[in-house]
Amino acid sequence: MSRYPAPALTRRALLASAAASAAGAMLPLLPASPATAAMRDVSLRAAAGRVRLATPGETAAWLYNGTAPGPEIRLRQGERLRVTVDNALAEETTVHWHGLRLPNAMDGVPHLTQKPIGAGERFVYEFDAIDAGTFWYHPHQKSSEQVGRGLYGPLIIEEPEPLRVDRDVTWMLGDWRLTKSGEISEDFGNRHDIHHNGRVGNTVTINGRRVPDGFAVRKGERIRLRLINAANARIFSLDFAGHEPIVIALDGQPVTPHAPEKGLVVLGAAMRVDLILDMTGTAGSRAAVTDRFYEGLEYKLVDLVYDGTPLRERAPDWPLGLPANPLPEPDLKAASRNEVLFSGGMMGEMVAEEMGETMGGEMMGPGAPGGRMSHAHSMTGGMMAMMNSGAAWFINGVAADESGHDMKPMLTLERNRSHVIAMTNATAWHHPIHLHGHSFRVISRNGQPTRHREWQDTVLLSPREKLEIAFVADNPGDWMFHCHVLEHQAGGMMAVFRVA
Ligand code: C2O
Ligand code: CU
Repeated sequence: MSRYPAPALTRRALLASAAASAAGAMLPLLPASPATAAMRDVSLRAAAGRVRLATPGETAAWLYNGTAPGPEIRLRQGERLRVTVDNALAEETTVHWHGLRLPNAMDGVPHLTQKPIGAGERFVYEFDAIDAGTFWYHPHQKSSEQVGRGLYGPLIIEEPEPLRVDRDVTWMLGDWRLTKSGEISEDFGNRHDIHHNGRVGNTVTINGRRVPDGFAVRKGERIRLRLINAANARIFSLDFAGHEPIVIALDGQPVTPHAPEKGLVVLGAAMRVDLILDMTGTAGSRAAVTDRFYEGLEYKLVDLVYDGTPLRERAPDWPLGLPANPLPEPDLKAASRNEVLFSGGMMGEMVAEEMGETMGGEMMGPGAPGGRMSHAHSMTGGMMAMMNSGAAWFINGVAADESGHDMKPMLTLERNRSHVIAMTNATAWHHPIHLHGHSFRVISRNGQPTRHREWQDTVLLSPREKLEIAFVADNPGDWMFHCHVLEHQAGGMMAVFRVA
């Protein structure tokens, strides 16, 4: 299944080096110093093409370098990445480097951080890989359609000393809405998707393929599995059938190694989870990985297919922890506090009213008088009119206009200061909420401190949930803050935070 070459530490390399070297000096690699930081040059060409998602038949899609996902970009922490993007699509695009802390001008948000890359044009992105971890890239222009047609790819930044595993594997999860004839359904941005749970598709792929033959493993093998949810909207809740995955990183950032709640690995759109997966099944057996997120719609993602010969009899006893990334620690006592309320969507009025959070809406876009918040006890005429015009979701009463992106900042955060954002989801739906340019700690959910104070860049809010995040706003510029259900984003669920 893995089209992606394994990194330096393959099982074979591991065995060879273990045999050869008692000193265990496998990785003579040091973090590059800024003066000598190695430059990695990559080219990405966005163009229409055809892919084989399932056999038989091909599907017309939009691709980076002819494949979906695009090439796995891999470099080491401390290196510098330069990506030359050629736009061979018939429309404008950009590339956003999801989860990376980079200079604002490299963030890939059309109109806000750069001019969109026109058809036939080129843009060069260049930035340092500050954090090690599992990240990804995708357009930020008409995201629902451009991502939904296949434009996305993994971006892996390796630790200076990779964690010891037998195999380092990336599964980029895609979700396609295909017609009976196997073509991509053209109903992008339809009202139903926007007002409900987004464009949930009907064909889930791993690295751009359905995998009917299964994923080959060996008893005793330890895999670092990097899961990336590249779906427009689908949320995954993966059950590894008796295996006991250990979460070691979320959204690229190390977390105290722990078993996920109820053994289920949950990823909202755009989220990443790094797992340590010890293959504890019996040689020659099969085990199904099942997605259980949507009740009554469980399905088998893939079979783990055990080879007849074990690699070793029991799971290895190697360390699980990853070294921390250089993130500034927020000071909660000194933090400024900001409230953010999400509202709208189907049944939104009902939920908001239950929660005592009803408010009117205001369209914010180029030339529109954005920013006003009006507290009303029922849907205002304006909100009604907007919902009819396609604005479906509101942040602090404001629905943004995606075509503009050049929005006025909703919040201005003082630079180098700690900030708490207290979010309330006064809607009937889940929302993976993403902040650009920073990682934040999730510090509480519904008033309860979180166990791991996990760093994330995209946090999944459940219906009616309240949660708090905290971070140091150390990256100057205008940054998007939005729902990563791309149809919710298109329906207004985005804002700009200015760090100044
Ligand atoms: Cu994954 Cu605003 O993006
Ligand atoms: Cu949403």
